[in-house]
Amino acid sequence: MPSIDHSLVSEIRERFCNVDKCPISGERIFFENAGGALTLRSALETSTKFAAIPDNQGRDNFASHTLNNTIKKAKSDLRILFNAQSGEFFMGESGTELLFRLIRNAVTASPPGGSIVGTSLEHPASRSAAKKWSGEMKYTYVSVPHDIEKGIVEAENYADKISETTRVVTIVHASPVTGMGTKISEISRIVRKKAPSAFIIVDGIQHAAHGGIDVESYDIDGYVISPYKMFSRHGFGIAWVSDRLRNSPHEKLDDGPSDNWELGTRDTGAYATMSNVKDYMCWLGKEFTTEEDSRAQIEAAGAAIQDYEKKMTNAILYGVDNLKGLTDFEEVEIIGGANNPSREGLVSFRIKECPSEEIVRYLNRQGIRTHTRKCDHYSGNILAPLGWDDCVRVSICHYNTQNEVKKFLSSMAAFADK
Ligand SMILES: Cc1ncc(COP(=O)(O)O)c(C=O)c1O
Repeated sequence: MPSIDHSLVSEIRERFCNVDKCPISGERIFFENAGGALTLRSALETSTKFAAIPDNQGRDNFASHTLNNTIKKAKSDLRILFNAQSGEFFMGESGTELLFRLIRNAVTASPPGGSIVGTSLEHPASRSAAKKWSGEMKYTYVSVPHDIEKGIVEAENYADKISETTRVVTIVHASPVTGMGTKISEISRIVRKKAPSAFIIVDGIQHAAHGGIDVESYDIDGYVISPYKMFSRHGFGIAWVSDRLRNSPHEKLDDGPSDNWELGTRDTGAYATMSNVKDYMCWLGKEFTTEEDSRAQIEAAGAAIQDYEKKMTNAILYGVDNLKGLTDFEEVEIIGGANNPSREGLVSFRIKECPSEEIVRYLNRQGIRTHTRKCDHYSGNILAPLGWDDCVRVSICHYNTQNEVKKFLSSMAAFADK
C-alpha cells in the first residue's frame, strides 16, 4: 500500500497552523496531539469569517438562510466523515459535556432498575457521568476491568458484566493515557446479544484524529468527539445519536421539535469547520485512491494515517537510523508494552526512579512538547494499577515527521547521558 511520504507530509503541513512554531513560546516540535491536534488553516479562516457575522439562524433574510444552509451542509459532511447514515448530529459545549448529556438522557429514558456497564480504561468524562447517574437512578454501576499490562479492554471482558437489565454501556474508542484502541463492534455485538435495548455510548475523543470513524459498522447509540482534537478548534463538541436515542425522551424546549437535541443558538462557524475537516480528509484520501466517492476517500485517508502513525510510533519505540529507540534505553518502561497492535499514535513511558516531570521539562527546553500524566483523577485509573506515579506522554499525528522523531530520540539520549 502506498504510504504518506516525505513530500506529502510537507504538503500536509502546509495545510495546518502553527506546525513548527507556537505563537506564544516559539519554535517547537508538537508531540502533544492527545492534548489538542493542530488546527487546519481552512478551519481558522472559516471561524474568522463566521465570527464577524452578527446575524442569527432562522430569520427570513439571505444571510440567515445561508447560516442555516451552512449548518445543514456541515451535518451532511459529518454524516460522511462518521459514516452515519441514520441518526442525528448536534453540538455541545465540549466532549465532556456531551458525554454527560448523552449518558444522562440515555439513563433517564431507560426503565427503572438495572445497571450501567463501563470500563476502567475510560476517561473520567464518561465514567463520572455513568457513576453519577447510576447513583441518581439507583442503578448498579458495573466496571469492566481493563488489561493493565496491555493497556486495552478486551471485548470478551464485557460479556459477563452484561445482563438483560443492563440499561447503558459506555466504551472508550481509544485511551488518551495508554494510547490503545478498542474494538467497538466486538463489544456492541456482545451487548446486543444479552441486552438488545441497552444504549451504547462511545467516547471517540482520543480516537478521532487517528484514522477512521465508522458509526454504521458499530451498532451503537452515541458517539462523541472534541473537534479541537480532530483538526478543528476549541469551544465545542460534536455528538451523534442513533434514531432510537434521538427519539427517546430527552432535555429539550417545551413544545419545540421533539427530535431536536440542540440547546440554544449554535455557532455556525464551528459547524462549518467540520466541513473543512471532511474536505481535508477527502483531499488526503485522493492521494491514495482514485475513487470519486467522498466516503471512500475518507477511508483511504484513515488507512494511510494509521499506517504512517504506526511507522512513527515504531521509530519512537525501536529507533531510526543510528538513533536508539525508547526500548533501547535502560530503565525505560512503556505502558501497554512496546509491541502492541492496538497502539494509536501515542507512546506513554517512564524512566524508573526519574520523575516524568523532569523529562518533560528537559524535552520542553529542547523545543519538544510532550506532557506529564500524573496519577490523579484523569490518569489514576491507568497509572495506579501499574503502581506508577506518573508517565511521559508522547502523542503524534500524521503531520509529524521522522526528523521530529529523530530530534526527540537524540534529546532522550542526551537526557539519559546527563
Ligand atoms: C478519551 C477522552 N475522553 C474525554 C476527554 C475530555 O475531552 P474534552 O476536554 O474535550 O471535553 C478527553 C480529553 O483528553 C479524552 O481524551
